Amino acid sequence: MKLDTTWVRAQFPAFEVPSLKGQAFFENAGGSYTCGAVIYRLHRFYTQRKVQPYAAYAASSLGGAEMDEARTRMAAILGVATDELSFGPSTTQNTYVLAQAFGQMMQPGEAIIVTNQDHEANSGPWRRLADRGIEVREWQIDPDTGHLNTDDLENLLDDKVRLVCFPHCSNVVGEINPVTEITALAHAAGAFVCVDGVSYAPHGFVDVGAVGADIYLFSAYKTFGPHQGLMVIRRPLGELLPNQGHYFNEGSLYKRFTPAGPDHAQVAASAGMADYVDALYAHHLGGNAEPTARGAAVHDLMRGAETVLLQQLLDSVKTRNSVRLIGPDRAENRAPTVALALNRPGEIVAGELAKRGIMAGGGDFYAGRALGAMGVDLEQGVLRLSFTHYTSQDEMEKLLNALDDVL
Ligand SMILES: Cc1ncc(COP(=O)(O)O)c(C=O)c1O
Repeated sequence: MKLDTTWVRAQFPAFEVPSLKGQAFFENAGGSYTCGAVIYRLHRFYTQRKVQPYAAYAASSLGGAEMDEARTRMAAILGVATDELSFGPSTTQNTYVLAQAFGQMMQPGEAIIVTNQDHEANSGPWRRLADRGIEVREWQIDPDTGHLNTDDLENLLDDKVRLVCFPHCSNVVGEINPVTEITALAHAAGAFVCVDGVSYAPHGFVDVGAVGADIYLFSAYKTFGPHQGLMVIRRPLGELLPNQGHYFNEGSLYKRFTPAGPDHAQVAASAGMADYVDALYAHHLGGNAEPTARGAAVHDLMRGAETVLLQQLLDSVKTRNSVRLIGPDRAENRAPTVALALNRPGEIVAGELAKRGIMAGGGDFYAGRALGAMGVDLEQGVLRLSFTHYTSQDEMEKLLNALDDVL
């Protein structure tokens, strides 16, 4: 079954806004457009329910119920229990809190593994645990391809390692890492895993329960939702780590690692992401299915549409002399996040694309460790072209024509 892109685009008000007409959006990895269901809920919360939630009066109880609904429905799509999902201000904040918890739990001499493929959010907070006597081991990418080799991970694992942190897919390399396999390797060595799913989740939600990850993080503002960080922490780990919230919230798994007070409206509006998944499923497939099955079907529909356009982009850039394509040149194993190292700063080229109606970005995207390890000049950074399932064939053609002009 093919994704109905016309229907999809009708769910995103941005495509109808006059100021964005004629602009093709290729900086989705920085933050996606927001779906109508989320905007509707956010507006409704601010106009009708903007009171302290969970009290007896209607505006309050409806607000609280909507916050619970968001967690219940998103957790079901992610294949985990409702209280294994929590909402924090951002993924960066969530990993910071988690690192404090691991720092308190771990003993000097124990080890964690980080990669140099990650965005800094899933790297720096963990590396800083070295200050507490924790050994930090780096799982390094291949400097030519940016690939993380699981054989290298096996060489780093031993009984001192308590945690392996890695991305589902890097925001510059784009290659999809085998999360289930890596998780199994880490578990066999007695370590937990923390997976940064931020770059992957915009291309389909994952059945985290089936994958087996102990921690899975992503950012709703990149998955068509509001500015929140969603964090799955599976119960055995969540109950083992020391509470980081108020002492009286100790017994509530979903409050233990979100010390900041919740953004009520944005948590509530996150239910709109579940609305969108369900509507997309109903439009294409109809009938009833379990939430994880709906999520999986929607994931496959999105990916099917994305890989067709992605291969066109990869084919157009991979043979150009002026371009170094970062990461794989086949769509099957990469997300539609394509970084190009050029002979001039990515930001300058992004500016030239902007004049041609292409919204794209340049820089290091907080992935300087990965780009530096691949020998990319960090002063110049990369041009990054990223899209999602709502991107049309016309927009891709517009991009390819513009790249002919500027590369
Ligand atoms: C791969 C990746 N991980 C983590 C983050 C940080 O997410 P947040 O902005 O929610 O802190 C980003 C943000 O761009 C990202 O691309």
